[in-house]
Amino acid sequence: MSAVVIDGNRLSRERIDWLRVEIERRGRRGLRRPGLAVVVVGSDPASRIYVRNKRRACKRAGIVARDHDLPESTSQAELLALIERLNADPEIDGVLVQLPLPAHIDPAAVTNAIDPYKDVDGFHAENIGRLVLRQPGLRPCTAVGIMTMLRSIDMAFKGAHAVVVGASNHVGRPLLMELLLAGSTVTCCHKFTVDLRSHVAAADILLVAVGKPALIPGAWIKPGAVVIDVGINRLEDGSLCGDVEFDAARERAAFISPVPGGVGPMTVAGLLENTFQAVLAAEERGR
Ligand code: GUN
Repeated sequence: MSAVVIDGNRLSRERIDWLRVEIERRGRRGLRRPGLAVVVVGSDPASRIYVRNKRRACKRAGIVARDHDLPESTSQAELLALIERLNADPEIDGVLVQLPLPAHIDPAAVTNAIDPYKDVDGFHAENIGRLVLRQPGLRPCTAVGIMTMLRSIDMAFKGAHAVVVGASNHVGRPLLMELLLAGSTVTCCHKFTVDLRSHVAAADILLVAVGKPALIPGAWIKPGAVVIDVGINRLEDGSLCGDVEFDAARERAAFISPVPGGVGPMTVAGLLENTFQAVLAAEERGR
């Protein structure tokens, strides 16, 4: 069997084009475009690329992206003061602070300073808590993008065994909550898991978000499984690869997401969808 490759670039473009139509429709009714503040501190090369992609996608969707490129020396107090201004700005619906931040800034303090209604990354403790309690507000955008991918292949979530490898705050844990909400049986694997192979082999849906090339050999995959690779690793020759051995996994899976061109662009689409949800929610609250 050779798996169907889930084309994240195409799906992301479709979602963004749909958003553009909705935003233009709002414009004709005299309603404003959503506004997204994009904050970057320092010059981490990977962050620069991610942020450039996010800004381009905003342009395509008709979202107004306001750039805040701050020097590495920015203090935590200065960053928190900027967030306070953005929280109060009626033209800004979403605030994105690109991670990682320089070592002298506490990312949790920054994330939790963003107004939960403007937290388009979905990383605020309130939004994560809401997801856990089945009262979702803004949801973490990588998980949003992955659920869109899975729905695009008509994934039957209920009764399926979903195995998430990687328990990070921003990807693994939110994914577990989304899959649980969708009715799957979920298993979380992490660095202390014993016999990772047996868990992987039991997965109807396998989601890997660790950041280690070839962590999951293709031979481990259950025949007919759906494989979502969240890892983005740069190899010495400059090429990108995921955490799953793609060619071998493709021979066993029914569906597989590639790297690049899989989850990455879907995270961007998730961010823009959240920004659109944020402007709708702001209007509902009379802001
Ligand atoms: N750094 C890598 N991925 C992300 C993301 O989805 N959001 C933010 N804010 N920073 C990131």
